[in-house]
Amino acid sequence: MTNIFTSLELPNGTIIKNRFMKAATSETMGDKEYRPTSELINLYRAWANGGTGLIITGNVMVDQTARGEFGNIVIEDSKDLTLLKQWAHAGTENGAKIFMQLNHPGKQSPKTISKRPVSPSAISMTGANSFAFNTPRALTNVEIKVIIQKFINAAVVAKDAGFSGVEIHAAHGYLLSQFLSPHDNQRVDECGGNLKNRMRILVEIYQGMRAKLGADFPIALKINSSDLREGGFSEEDSIKVIQEMDKLDIDLIEVSGGNYEKPAVQGIGKGVFFIKYASKVKNTIKSPIAVTGGFTTANGMSKAIENNETDLIGLARPLVLLPDLPNQFETGNFTAIKLHHLTTKLNRLDKKVSSLIGLSYYQQQMQNVAKGLPVQITDNAWSSLGFAFKKQGLSALIPQRG
Ligand SMILES: Cc1cc2nc3c(=O)[nH]c(=O)nc-3n(C[C@H](O)[C@H](O)[C@H](O)COP(=O)(O)O)c2cc1C
Repeated sequence: MTNIFTSLELPNGTIIKNRFMKAATSETMGDKEYRPTSELINLYRAWANGGTGLIITGNVMVDQTARGEFGNIVIEDSKDLTLLKQWAHAGTENGAKIFMQLNHPGKQSPKTISKRPVSPSAISMTGANSFAFNTPRALTNVEIKVIIQKFINAAVVAKDAGFSGVEIHAAHGYLLSQFLSPHDNQRVDECGGNLKNRMRILVEIYQGMRAKLGADFPIALKINSSDLREGGFSEEDSIKVIQEMDKLDIDLIEVSGGNYEKPAVQGIGKGVFFIKYASKVKNTIKSPIAVTGGFTTANGMSKAIENNETDLIGLARPLVLLPDLPNQFETGNFTAIKLHHLTTKLNRLDKKVSSLIGLSYYQQQMQNVAKGLPVQITDNAWSSLGFAFKKQGLSALIPQRG
């Protein structure tokens, strides 16, 4: 019987040695020129040696002018190939495979980075986090073509550097997810309107990559099961996109959900958020599926594989806190991990900054792992809030007196 330590063969023949997948976790450990630092490389060595079969990098941006956070890595050409090779090498130690996640934030690029972010349409962000973002302007058709080319170029550099594959990030409300969503995409040209048009940018990126990378090089897709709001990207749309990408021979589909306006990706204690959806879709496609979001127990992970509900177990926060979770699992030393709900103990502040804290706490812990320091288990959010302000330059968002 297939279990969590059985290898997985992707349709193109790539072998993943077991079913643990480190989901993307934006580490924000790039230097001032958007290059990987030695700390980042250390962190990936820890994950590879911790036993994970497939490691997805934190999102790497394809355009210097459009970044989601300070500390993002950006690839626009091959000038940093030597450092990227070191990163790929660290992530493939111990038989692990490493896929580089490629992303463009679209309007989810904060004020501190983008005065005027871009998006399919000029529709502002809403929700508790909207204060951090400027209203975007709509991309022109020529600009869309340039962005497609940037994704393709970055994927070619990833392959040259020795990464085992790439993952296109079309989830969590970033640019490709904005194109897919009828709420964010109100274009009336060939990139808006019906689903075929809304997914055109994604298909062109994928086909362009495939033409350059060849049939043997894995290309994965991260996609939302829905963006969890009325008039947005629905489950029916999501299934159709997955099936279409499957027909085009995508190598792996990772299912997730939500965006900065309706975060679902950082839920605690809600179980495995997308498993029902994934097992429904799984029977209709040939590509393997990874489910990410909410796995915390050894039993839950094992059962999801043994019951054939997913092919890979995507883990983000658990692998930050326990980078050697798969090794511990193998020796019988892992049963469950508790994810704490971080709080400032000030209700109104928590509401405003909860998703920010949720990210920065884990970014802080990744930095500890990278430096060989112990992770800090706490529910006190103040240190993470300070870390976020320092790192992301958020003080610039606080209204100045006078
Ligand atoms: C610190 C942090 C950074 C993240 N960065 C990314 C990212 O760069 N790309 C992405 O697709 N998801 C990102 N995510 C979302 C995770 O990949 C994952 O979907 C989410 O945390 C739910 O999985 P979990 O319950 O195993 O943590 C991030 C999550 C965290 C906590």
